Amino acid sequence: MWCSWGRWGLRGLRGVTPSRAAVGALHYDIRSSYIPFDTIVNERRSQAKKSLLVQVNSEKSFPELHSYCSQFGTVLGVHHYTTSNSHHFMLVEFSTEENVSNLLASTTFIQDSDVIPVQSKFLWFRPQNNELRSNIRNIINFSETNDVNKLHVKNACVIPAENLILRNLLQANSISEQIQMLYDMTCLKDLGTRLRYVTARQVESALNGLFPNATVCPFGSSVNGFGKMGCDLDLVVKFTSEDLANNLRSRLVFHTKKSTLTGRTQQQRYMEIISDMIQFFLPGCSHVRKILQARIPIIKFNQDYAGLDCDLSISSTSGLYMSELLYLYGNIDSRVRPLVFTIRKWAKHVALTNASPGKWITNFPLTLMVLFFLQNATDGAILPSFNYLRKHAGESDMRLTDDRVNCSFLRDIKDMKFISQNDSDLKELLHQFFEFYCSFDFSTQALSINEGRAIKKPDYAALYIINPLQINLNVSKNVSYEECERMKIEFRNAAWYLESVSETGNEKESWGLGVLLKEKSSSLKNKFVDYHRIVQVKDLFMNEKKELNDGDKFEKDIHKNKVNNNQIHDDVIEQIDSEISLKTVQNVNIDTEQSQFLSSENVQTRGRKVKRR
Ligand code: GTP
Ligand code: MG
Repeated sequence: MWCSWGRWGLRGLRGVTPSRAAVGALHYDIRSSYIPFDTIVNERRSQAKKSLLVQVNSEKSFPELHSYCSQFGTVLGVHHYTTSNSHHFMLVEFSTEENVSNLLASTTFIQDSDVIPVQSKFLWFRPQNNELRSNIRNIINFSETNDVNKLHVKNACVIPAENLILRNLLQANSISEQIQMLYDMTCLKDLGTRLRYVTARQVESALNGLFPNATVCPFGSSVNGFGKMGCDLDLVVKFTSEDLANNLRSRLVFHTKKSTLTGRTQQQRYMEIISDMIQFFLPGCSHVRKILQARIPIIKFNQDYAGLDCDLSISSTSGLYMSELLYLYGNIDSRVRPLVFTIRKWAKHVALTNASPGKWITNFPLTLMVLFFLQNATDGAILPSFNYLRKHAGESDMRLTDDRVNCSFLRDIKDMKFISQNDSDLKELLHQFFEFYCSFDFSTQALSINEGRAIKKPDYAALYIINPLQINLNVSKNVSYEECERMKIEFRNAAWYLESVSETGNEKESWGLGVLLKEKSSSLKNKFVDYHRIVQVKDLFMNEKKELNDGDKFEKDIHKNKVNNNQIHDDVIEQIDSEISLKTVQNVNIDTEQSQFLSSENVQTRGRKVKRR
């Protein structure tokens, strides 16, 4: 199992730079190694159940931690990383869930009047005291760090700095190779995915006391193959399981309580309870904010130990199926993901996209634009239409969400008949993407992934991208005319640049993609202010940051600052946050509903006009 994960962690063409001259179009076809989405999700969930996170003093704690953990079962792997505040963590994977239960049964906590003793798989490894040392010596033979016990990954979550990325791009032999390199350097790695599933599992385990069948699943860029290191973690809670309900064979039926609330109010109340649970009881979860007025209410929080920004929603499983669809498209052809990554990065660089909500396009609809282009690529389609996938869906591909959205489509693409004859390389495709949208008639045409071609726009939205799963909805409804115009200008500039640029450069001066990603946005400079973080809340508590020099200091820091801070300051943080959010909303003049699925059909202005900037 370990080996196969190593392969999965790295799969997806890393280091492969297809060359047009050497090979034909089929070289780009990666369907033979396709692993269905459900298989990956199930394996990752099971891996998370067998894993736990341990805060340690440094990576040097590895042999001791490994030996200590080994008394509870076989350790499959230990992955080390540091968080932004330089705290060291190790993710330990055991071979069975039982091993983890045995270990958890042996854990302890430091009793203190203001500590809530919630047990979880987020632990810290304290230095030995003398008594412990002599006890432990009887149990464990500290093993030498031999090959078997080697740290699998060291410092694995470091996001490469911008200048390092640009410097590396200089070494490439062509722009196509630069595009591939950018993808290889920035895509979400194995440990990033593991941490996302462990975080989902933390919330899931907390809910399982009351709802034994509830699941919490990551969706969005964390799982759709288009995630970069450091991307946010979108989570969806599902309370029921179809297998459990209405089982006619069972004669014992559990008593249930009738809900006095209905629909939206009910959802909001439940979200409030979950958000309180996360804020008060879950270790490492801080900065919890409720955005309950959105059509799909969400809870935002940080998981400090995993270094993640999380958005949690309930019962919107269509997002999960949308992630599966994007994952599937990214696995048909090796050019899809590097191209999407480059275009997302370029769009961020020229400020077409931005982390905070607004009237601009976000990564999700932008990705659909790339997929749509690939269905219409100049030298022949690289991706099939969504209708094609729908048409070839078999019995086992049928899916319907709770709110009756039909999410059926062909899921195992290995035997799909569609073959692309297009052998354009990545640079050509990037150039063609910009040219394609320079001449696209946004004023009358809508992008239909379903048809794989443009169709007449049903309304006056500036940008109309049909939601493939719900064709009456526009996923880019929020994009303003002004932003759409700006997008066209940036497409023109990029197309012009790629037309004139030479294919290679030298190792000293920026060239190719390096220049495209260095150019300032032509139509607008410094347009966006990151209202979302006008004040960095953590800066207000700077004095708590401590250097960890020795074990004692480490223990003190952990106990006094880490454990208690979340609880002590949460109220203050909440208050500051609501002020910041308020400013955000006032400054950008958007409705709060835009906070979730901001680019989406879900946005409603509720009678309040969205002011043009
Ligand atoms: P980044 O977070 O920017 O890396 O990309 P992302 O794909 O995760 O986008 P985001 O966090 O905004 O949204 C998460 C997922 O929710 C997407 O991948 C989609 O599956 C779904 N989603 C986002 N926006 C919309 C929308 O406007 N309509 C619908 N139906 N689904 C959306
Ligand atoms: Mg996301």
